[in-house]
This record gives sequence, C-alpha cells and structure tokens, in this order.
Amino acid sequence: MRIIGTGSMLPQKMVTNEQLSQFVDTSDEWIRERTGIETRCVLSTESLEELATEAAKQALDDAGILPTQLDYIICSNMVNEYVIPSMASIVGGHIGSQCPAYDLNAACTGFLYAMDMAEALLQSGRAENILIISAEAPTRIVDWNDRRTCVLFGDGAAAVVVTRGNALRSIKVSSKSDKSVLYYRRSLEPTPFLIRDKNTGPLCMNGQEVFKSAVTSSLRDMQYVLKQANVNKDDVTYFVLHQANLRIIDFIKSHFGATDEQFPINVNRYGNTSSVSIPLLLDELNKNGKLRKGDLLVFSAFGAGFTSAACVIEWNKSAE
Ligand code: COA
Repeated sequence: MRIIGTGSMLPQKMVTNEQLSQFVDTSDEWIRERTGIETRCVLSTESLEELATEAAKQALDDAGILPTQLDYIICSNMVNEYVIPSMASIVGGHIGSQCPAYDLNAACTGFLYAMDMAEALLQSGRAENILIISAEAPTRIVDWNDRRTCVLFGDGAAAVVVTRGNALRSIKVSSKSDKSVLYYRRSLEPTPFLIRDKNTGPLCMNGQEVFKSAVTSSLRDMQYVLKQANVNKDDVTYFVLHQANLRIIDFIKSHFGATDEQFPINVNRYGNTSSVSIPLLLDELNKNGKLRKGDLLVFSAFGAGFTSAACVIEWNKSAE
C-alpha cells in the first residue's frame, strides 16, 4: 500500500471547556490538566454522512483519482443514524462510485483495522485503489450530564486513498475481549418474545483501566512494528498516535525518549474523535506541508474491544 491522498471535515460548532462547565460540573482547569483538551467540534446542523462525503471528496482530489477508479470503500464507524445501509455505501452514492463498500467497527482502532483490510485486498490483487474513511460521532453516545465522559469526545470525519505500493513496512492489529471497561449498548426494538432491554446506553467507561490498557498496548504494538520493519525510533519522523488524551501521548513519548516534534498533536483542539483522530492528524500534516517523501510514520491506536493496532508506513504520495 501507498497513501496517495488525504482529506478531513469537522463539524462547524466548536465547544470550549468553559461552555461545558455551564451545564456539567467541571472546569477548564480540570479538563486541560487531566486530558489536554481545550475545545472539540460537535455535530449540530450537519450530518455525519455530509462530513464523511466531504472528507472523501478531498482525499480523492488530493490523490488525483476519480470515484469511478475506486475498487473498494471501507468506512470505520461505531455509530450513526443508519444501522443499514452502511456509511460506506451511503458515501459511495454521494461521491458517485459503484464499487463494493462496507463499514467496519473496531472502535477507536478502526482506521488501522481498515488499513489492514485494504493491505490484504491490494496484496491479493483484488484492488488497485481503495478509499478508507473514518467517520465518527461519539458525542451522540455519551451522557451529556456525565462529566467523566462528555468532556472527552468530539465528532468528525477523515479519509485517505491508498493504492498499490510498498510504503507499508509493517502492521499489527489485535483484540483482547473485555466488555467491562468501555462499552455502549444500543436499544433494539422489542419483539413479542423479548421485552425491551432497559440496560442500554449511554457510554460507560472505566477511565483509569482504559488509560492503563492504552499505554501498555500502544508501547507494545509500536515496539513490535518498529522491530518488524527494522526501523529505529530515532528515524521516525512522526508518531501519529490516536488522540485520546494528552497524558497518554506524553507518557508514551517520554517512554520512547522521543522529541515533541516527533509527536504531533491535535487532541487539544478536537478532543477524542475516535477512529478519525489518526487520519485527521495525518491530513493536517499533509495540508500544512509537514510531510516529505521518505518520511517514516508510525501510527498507533487503541479502543474499545479492547482493540489496538500500529503500523510503520513511509510517506510516498507521489509515484515511486
Ligand atoms: N471535571 C471535574 N472532575 C471530574 C471530571 C471532570 N470532567 N471527570 C471526572 N472528575 C472527577 C471524578 O469524579 C473524580 O472525583 P472523586 O475523586 O471525587 O470521585 C476525580 O475527578 C478523579 O477521577 P478519575 O477518574 O480518577 O480521574 P483521572 O485522572 O483518571 O482522569 C480520565 C479521568 C477519563 C481523563 C482518564 O482516566 C483518561 O483519560 N482515561 C482514558 C480515557 C480514554 O482515553 N478513553 C477513550 C479510549 S479510546
């Protein structure tokens, strides 16, 4: 695989910590200190499919390919208004592609799971060009009266186009089942044989347990993929980590003995946008001209499941 285009779109409404403290018992100081988050974008007037469509169009433009040249669309998504059809199918219709399209849900790790699937499709010769979209609206599953969760998340969409190439040096995805630390149970229709389950939503999270798992899995995965790729951490241009919490990122950075420049962040502006955070940060780096041909990037994500994944990929957007 080789990444040849990126795009992203965020909701217009930006909410500050100060604004949150007007309806939930929290403060700007607490949120900044414990999470590094200052603002987040939340859906209000727009829909998630509109954001996903715009991100997809930008990525296709950046890649210089037409929607009709796509062989697959894979969308990482946890939740949206539609259970069916998939978000990938919906966006495929909006952009005018007719290729196979499906969603996958690996929570905040979904973008890297989608990369893993895309790599398999490209390697098997079944595909030439694949659009990967991450579109997430975590603000629609949290309890906005629960200060432990509602301050953490933001919505958005980001996309990349990948094509055949040999920029992906190594990738590892994993899952260790644990429903207890982070989950959201949706409400299903009652049937004549089953009464409605009252034990549903909003999002439940044991923050400290998730914090520990995040740090452990991310360090383990990154060390593994660096070794597999035979790459020294000092030669990594950017560690593009899932943007869940600045403290998690800082912990990993200091453990690696890495520099601030090697760990770009945007969690301060957008909060935790789930599987969107890595392609969103990548798109920012791309748009800001921060990426050079040959740069080595490490992606690392973790999320409910408990899932985690990492990869080493070379930035090689223009033809080899
Ligand atoms: N404002 C003010 N106080 C808050 C608060 C908020 N937004 N959220 C929690 N608190 C309070 C708690 O109620 C608790 O008060 P108490 O001692 O009176 O009971 C106190 O702060 C400490 O809570 P604790 O949960 O121990 O804080 P923490 O330092 O672990 O920080 C998280 C909480 C959620 C920020 C942190 O655990 C975390 O980031 N975990 C990882 C979460 C994550 O990344 N999830 C997504 C994974 S993809």
